[in-house]
Amino acid sequence: MAQITAGVAVSHIPALGATIDHGRTHEPYWKACFAGFEWTRAWEQAEKPDVVILVYNDHATAFDMNFIPTFAIGCAERYAIADEGWGPRPVPEVIGDPDLAWHIAQSCILDEFDMTMVSRMDVDHGLTVPLSLMFDQPAAWPCKVVPLAVNVVTFPPPTGNRCYALGEAIARAVASYPADVNVQIWGTGGMSHQLQGPRAGLINAAWDNRFLDDLVDDPHRLRGIPHIEYLRETGSEGIEMVMWLIMRGALGPQVRALHRHYHVPASNTAVGHIVLEPVA
Ligand SMILES: [Fe+2]
Repeated sequence: MAQITAGVAVSHIPALGATIDHGRTHEPYWKACFAGFEWTRAWEQAEKPDVVILVYNDHATAFDMNFIPTFAIGCAERYAIADEGWGPRPVPEVIGDPDLAWHIAQSCILDEFDMTMVSRMDVDHGLTVPLSLMFDQPAAWPCKVVPLAVNVVTFPPPTGNRCYALGEAIARAVASYPADVNVQIWGTGGMSHQLQGPRAGLINAAWDNRFLDDLVDDPHRLRGIPHIEYLRETGSEGIEMVMWLIMRGALGPQVRALHRHYHVPASNTAVGHIVLEPVA
């Protein structure tokens, strides 16, 4: 049977992708930031996931104000790399897993989570930067991807509690999938950052690190964090962290942290990363 073997949370800052694409990860500004992903890259090579359920948000690329699904699952065979204004990133196309994706969609909807099914969707830095951070620059990505796009761009985003519960529903879906596949779930985005306005560049390292602590120790506190606290404490884009709670909810009650990395600054954003393993 299919099994979720691990969860990964990672920022998806576009500057990290551009730095990889231009071969600048060794430069002094970036070196320490990228060093924190070396452990995970080696670990991923050993783990060899068959599929990653990749929770991310679209940044007005595939969706705009005409369509704003709260939870959209990609059910396509493949996904093109989006042109976000300066040409598509030079990374491989993303290969989907329609059988698993439709299974998750059906299971979640019958479990009372109203997913939007998407058959065509270009994927932007929210999805491709995490793949680059985990897998470097291969000729082809080493696993299939089920994209799960969450609205955190336009108010109102879903609550952290709803995201956590969706993760639990995804775990039930995967557990009922009758194929022997090694599935990882990744939550992306965050951590504290504000891109515009008088508080642009806001970083709250203490808040971020407590969030990382409680992904392991007290996820139920995180479920209850209201939107206004994300806005006040982590800036206008910190709400992306609710996507990490989908990943965390899918791992079950107890987890063990295998690796953790926090780095400031990267662009004007705090980089957070944690690798979690479910404890039976
Ligand atoms: Fe984002």
